[in-house]
Amino acid sequence: MEFQNKVIDEALQGSATVLEPKNLEGRKVYIESYGCQMNFSDSEIVASILTEKGYVTTKNLEEADVVLVNTCSIRDKAEQTVRQRLTVFNKEKKKKPELIIGVLGCMAERLKTQLLEEERIVDIVVGPDAYRDLPNLVAQVDEGKRAVNVILSKEETYADISPVRLLSNGVTAFISITRGCDNMCTFCVVPFTRGRERSRNPESIINEAKDLFSKGFREVTLLGQNVDSYLWYGEDGLKKNYENLSEEEKAQSVTFAQLMEKVALISPQLRVRFSTSHPKDITDEFLEIMAKYDNICKYIHLPVQSGNNRILELMNRGYTREWYMNRIDKIKEIMPDCAISSDIISGFCSETEEEHQDTLAMMDYVKYDFGYMFNYSERPNTLAQRKYKDDVPQEVKSRRLAEIIAKQNKHSLERNKAYVGKTFEVLVEKKSKRSDAELAGRTSQNTVVVFPKENYKIGDYVTVFIENCTGGTLLGKAVN
Ligand code: SAH
Ligand code: SF4
Ligand code: F3S
Repeated sequence: MEFQNKVIDEALQGSATVLEPKNLEGRKVYIESYGCQMNFSDSEIVASILTEKGYVTTKNLEEADVVLVNTCSIRDKAEQTVRQRLTVFNKEKKKKPELIIGVLGCMAERLKTQLLEEERIVDIVVGPDAYRDLPNLVAQVDEGKRAVNVILSKEETYADISPVRLLSNGVTAFISITRGCDNMCTFCVVPFTRGRERSRNPESIINEAKDLFSKGFREVTLLGQNVDSYLWYGEDGLKKNYENLSEEEKAQSVTFAQLMEKVALISPQLRVRFSTSHPKDITDEFLEIMAKYDNICKYIHLPVQSGNNRILELMNRGYTREWYMNRIDKIKEIMPDCAISSDIISGFCSETEEEHQDTLAMMDYVKYDFGYMFNYSERPNTLAQRKYKDDVPQEVKSRRLAEIIAKQNKHSLERNKAYVGKTFEVLVEKKSKRSDAELAGRTSQNTVVVFPKENYKIGDYVTVFIENCTGGTLLGKAVN
């Protein structure tokens, strides 16, 4: 209640017309999220900031007072999807003019005031580091203004905010450990939309994980654009290299490997996952820690992007094909049962047929368990857009992508077939999509397993014998 007056007071400062104070208590906010896990995790922070101020979240667009869409800019298609949603929200606003529409996340940061001032299809624009300002921005809109905050921060990690778990199954949750990215891959918009890389206080990470465990959650995924470069040295702020730390900072520093160990030690019953690993930064020390704890899931998402050295150089990825293969060899040596997945971009600027063949050969070398595969999409103001020509014709990109996808499907199926006849520990996450009589969960290797429910329930660890498979799913029955 105290808050309401504060907002209204602030909103009225400098305003000529005195507005009737609005009742913010119980205002309904509808949040839709696109893009990476980080965005979904951020939406939970946003929900927390707003519910603290008396808002309630709703899953029903029709009853919303405020609609927020958390957006992604990674490829042109991602932005088009959001634009279509904004059209739908604006139709809703025609029926209900007091509806407030806000755009959050990477597209907000990239386009800044464009959606607000030129296109006039939203009321609020908020970048990823400005979510604490959301209640004030809504208040500005109440006052008849349009509101924007796209300031990027060098410190903000939202460490003190306890996320409201939206769409939660009560078993698995995300925890952000770093924000931003300092890598400057030439194709990528993320360093511009998310700002500089910063690491979150490890204590707040551990506490969040412990809290989740005590509430019945059984799996946490530590999130960052490059989790391997996580480094805490005693204060919030920009990342430094370990070598540049003072003796005092070194003494209290926490690396990603050390952080993982701390989280793994919370309980053997709490599974730990992480995403995304970067081939240039993943260390042997980390792989050893991973191998040491059964509850650290044996699955690494290690995006290669291309299997060719000239293209990797043009992409500014910071590793060679040989370096990447060495990392793969090391993973397989230390953890023979570890699953590996990748992101691959088809048709990056000037990519030749032979260079594309190098990517296919890399796939044959690694035999990825899963793959996320994309046509190169030129993004405004990235280094690649400024320096190189997007000169691989669309049909060539798509044909190469089809070859990459076909190979991945073959590898995924082969891998799943090799799992048939074995038993795995499965953490049950939900009912199966196919039927209520079946449950679905994942193995440590991140493969989905479906099996008859019997007396098992969501949140249980169940030993399952695999009898059959499709390209994406293992089918089995519980053994005990
Ligand atoms: N931080 C992660 C990736 C985040 S973006 C990493 O470095 O691996 C997720 C994936 O989107 C990238 O791995 C890349 O494969 C893809 N991607 C990024 N920019 C792209 C672009 N301009 N066109 C096509 N795919 C892109
Ligand atoms: Fe983008 Fe590269 Fe950073 Fe990943 S590591 S977010 S691809 S700049
Ligand atoms: Fe998209 Fe931003 Fe994530 S561009 S992939 S939502 S960091």
